[in-house]
Amino acid sequence: MTLNFTFDAPLVKLNSLAVPAKCKALVEVNSAEQMITALQHAKNETWAVLILGEGSNVLFTEDYPGLVILNRIKGIEVLEDCDDSVVLRVGSGENWHGLVETTVNNDWFGLENLALIPGLVGAAPVQNIGAYGCELKDTLVSVSYLNLLDQKLVELDRQQCQFSYRDSIFKKTLAGKVAITSVVLKLSKTARPNISYPSLAKALEGIDNPTLKSVFDAVCEIRLSKLPSPSHIPNAGSFFKNPIVDLNLYQELKRNYPQLPAFFVPPHSINADAVNLDAREQKVKLPAAWLIEQAGWKGKSIGRVTVHQSQALVIINPERADGEAVLRFARAVQKDINDKFSVQLEIEPQII
Ligand code: FAD
Ligand code: EPU
Repeated sequence: MTLNFTFDAPLVKLNSLAVPAKCKALVEVNSAEQMITALQHAKNETWAVLILGEGSNVLFTEDYPGLVILNRIKGIEVLEDCDDSVVLRVGSGENWHGLVETTVNNDWFGLENLALIPGLVGAAPVQNIGAYGCELKDTLVSVSYLNLLDQKLVELDRQQCQFSYRDSIFKKTLAGKVAITSVVLKLSKTARPNISYPSLAKALEGIDNPTLKSVFDAVCEIRLSKLPSPSHIPNAGSFFKNPIVDLNLYQELKRNYPQLPAFFVPPHSINADAVNLDAREQKVKLPAAWLIEQAGWKGKSIGRVTVHQSQALVIINPERADGEAVLRFARAVQKDINDKFSVQLEIEPQII
C-alpha cells in the first residue's frame, strides 16, 4: 500500500487558529489499514506521530518534528436497530456535525445538543466534547483505537474511557499513544429532549414539546450568534475550561461579585445556597467567560491576538500570529484572572 508523504509541510490551513507551523512529514489516511501502514513507517523512521482531525482544538507553539497523520477514516454502520434504540459504529474521520445531521434526519435522539461542534468524530472522545447540557459520554458505548507503538487494535468501553468534563483517558495515561479509528454510539428512538441549559431553554420558551429538529435548530442558532467560524476568524472555540472551584471560594467571590453566575456540580444538590451542604465536597463550576469579561478583556488585544467581542472565552487570531504569541496572550489572561479572582484557568486546546 503506497501512501503519499509530504515533507516539510505547512500546517497553517490544518489548524483552526491558523498558526503558521510546519511538520517534518504529513500523510492522509482513509482506512485503518492505511493508518497501520503510516504508523509502521513512522516507527521505522523513528518519527514522533501526531494524529489530527480538523485541527480545531490544537495550538502549535513550534514546528512539529515528526509525522502528522490526517485521519480521514469514514463510515457509519448500523450495528443494532431495535424498537427503542439504534447502535452505530462511526469511523473516526467522519465530520462530527455531519454525523449529528444524519442522526437528526433519522429521528435518532442524543446528539442534537452537540450540533455544530467543529472537528471529526475521532477527536470527540479525547476531550469528551460537550455543549448545551450534553456530553459525548451520554451516548457513547465504546472507542476503538490502534496503539501507536505496536498497531494493536483495542476497544475501551465507556467506563474505561474515564470521561469527565472536557477530559478522558486519552488526555491522561493514553495521551499521544493512540489513533482512534471508530466509536460506537447508542441513540434513542424515543424523544428525550434535554433543554435544561439556560440559553437553550430561553430559545425554546413557549414551545411545549420541542421536537428533535427544533432543539437542533435552536442549538445551531445560538452557536452561530456568538461563536466565530474559524474559516472567517481563526480560533479554537473556548480557549479555557470553565474552572471548578470549592464552595468556600465561590461563596467568597459571590460576596464581592453578587452577579457571578455558577453551575453546581454533582454529587451534591444543584442549590449551592443551601446551608446544609458539606463545604469540603461541594464544587462549583464558574463561567470563565464571565470572569474574563469582568476583568475587562472582552475585545482586548495584545499585539495581534484578541479576546473575541461576543464570547469572552474565545481567543481569536485574525492576523495569524504564531503559537508562542497566542500562548503568551493566554498566559496574560490566566495571570490577570488569578490575580483578580484567585481562580486558575486551565487551557482547553492541546498545546503542541
Ligand atoms: P483536532 O484539533 O484535530 O485534535 C484535537 C486533539 O485530539 C489532539 O490532541 C489530537 O491529537 C487528538 N486527536 C484527534 N483525532 C484523533 C484520533 N483519531 N485519534 C487520537 N487522537 C486524536 N468543543 C466542545 O467540547 N464543545 C464545544 O461546544 C466546542 N465548540 C467549539 C467551537 C469552535 C468555533 C471551535 C473552533 C472549537 C470548538 N470545540 C468545542 C473544540 C473542538 O471542536 C473539539 O475539541 C473537537 O472534538 C476537535 O476535533 P478535531 O477533529 O478538530 O480535533
Ligand atoms: N458569559 C459572559 N460573557 C461572555 C460569554 C458568556 O459573561 O462573553 C457568561 C454568561 O453569564 C453565560 C455564561 O458565561 O451565561 C456561559 O456562557 P455560554 O453559555 O456561552 O457557555 P460557556 O461557558 O462560555 C461552554 C463551553 C462551550 C459550549 C457552551 C455551551 C467550555 C469551556 N465551553 O461555554 O464549548 O459550547 O458552554 O454549552 O466548557 C468549547 O469547548 O470550545 C466550547 C465552545
